[in-house]
Amino acid sequence: MSTVVLDNVSKVYPGGFLAVDRMNLRAENGEFLVLLGPSGCGKSTLLRMIAGLEDVTSGDLWLGGELANELAPRDRDVAMVFQNGALYPHRTVRGNMSFPLEIAKADPAMIRERVIELSKALHIDETLDRRPGTLSGGQRQRVAMGRAIVRQPSLFLMDEPLSNLDAGMRTELRMEISSLVRSLGVTTVYVTHDQVEALTLADRIAIMNRGVLQDVGTPGQVYNDPATAFTAAFLSSQQLNLLAATVRTPQNQFILLDFGPHQIMIPWTDPRAYVISQHVGNQIIVGLRPDCLAPVPDTFEGPTFMGRVRALEYHGHEWLAYVESGLTAVAVPEPPDPRHRANGLASSVPGGRTRAIMRRLMPRSVPEEAEPHQTQEQVGGGTHRRADLIVRVGSRPVWRSGEPARVGIDVTRLMLFAPDGSRIDPPHR
Ligand SMILES: Nc1ncnc2c1ncn2[C@@H]1O[C@H](COP(=O)(O)OP(=O)(O)O)[C@@H](O)[C@H]1O
Ligand SMILES: [Mg+2]
Repeated sequence: MSTVVLDNVSKVYPGGFLAVDRMNLRAENGEFLVLLGPSGCGKSTLLRMIAGLEDVTSGDLWLGGELANELAPRDRDVAMVFQNGALYPHRTVRGNMSFPLEIAKADPAMIRERVIELSKALHIDETLDRRPGTLSGGQRQRVAMGRAIVRQPSLFLMDEPLSNLDAGMRTELRMEISSLVRSLGVTTVYVTHDQVEALTLADRIAIMNRGVLQDVGTPGQVYNDPATAFTAAFLSSQQLNLLAATVRTPQNQFILLDFGPHQIMIPWTDPRAYVISQHVGNQIIVGLRPDCLAPVPDTFEGPTFMGRVRALEYHGHEWLAYVESGLTAVAVPEPPDPRHRANGLASSVPGGRTRAIMRRLMPRSVPEEAEPHQTQEQVGGGTHRRADLIVRVGSRPVWRSGEPARVGIDVTRLMLFAPDGSRIDPPHR
């Protein structure tokens, strides 16, 4: 069994691409840690550094309390499963699974027994004498998993092992991985870009974007109490509303989040009032999940946004409404381009002046392509735009397209972020 500690670990690829930027992370003994993030954010790079398949550019990697930066992959006692778990095509399932033990010159009787036992746990005992070419994708991944586990490594590394499977098989194998890995008690680092996989499998989730750690915590912590706007948006099953608001304190009577055409009042008794008041006069970002918003009757006296229903969308278990209400949407704040950040890394982090110069030299970021429910109108430098408010209507479409909409707001679930995307009110960790 093994702990994994990343202490300020960075990876710059030859050519200067900063794939992992000063990562600090720890996987406890027996923990199931999931690395989650969009494609290209550095997950595989990080996993490959832990496996010893990539050098660590700077920082320290500790495995089981031992400094492992220079340790050869074979001395790390790790087993890895990849997206398309490459198997030996000319060996049977049995031959594939027993291979690591044969290499280790284990007792043949023990090998036989262990392979049979494991193949039963993985539901592939019927296929032991078949070659990989005759198996389904799901069966092949089970064999790959079996081959990795068979030797009982102290650390298990999995890189998107389910992403080539169809939805049904993915769900089935997901549950099996969870119970198998937990019954073995082996520390596991599991990479995925799928938030459902992360939320269902993980003891803790580490969320990455552009090589930078965004948040780490239990699934409940990172979902309900995200540390950054990126985490909030990435973990939302429906698109997160991210809105620009200015903080005001009219006559000091209360705090006002001023969205332009709409305002939300926060009383001084709100536990977040003090930290919000530190931002008076500034623009902040307010995050609202569609399920914090709901249609309310005219008699409703709580905080509301008024608007007009532009479209309704059926999602089977619920309806979503796109409500025109003159609010200003903000793009999810992201770390700057990794190619520019890499320059100063080895020596020092660029100071304010260098950074300002770099920013001027950087090409203007291309605005994201407008989503179908967003109007093209640009409100500011490409990161702000008018957009519909996305509201969870519920299982019945109480509104109709084109009608006025009164949207009730659950103020206790507002998420408040600084312009750089960090939380204004500290998350509980
Ligand atoms: N050998 C390499 N040389 C240069 N850049 C690389 C190399 N491998 C990966 N990258 C870049 O590093 C970034 C992170 O890649 P990767 O770790 O594979 O991301 P993920 O697994 O999260 O999709 C990507 O932009 C990728 O293009
Ligand atoms: Mg990858």
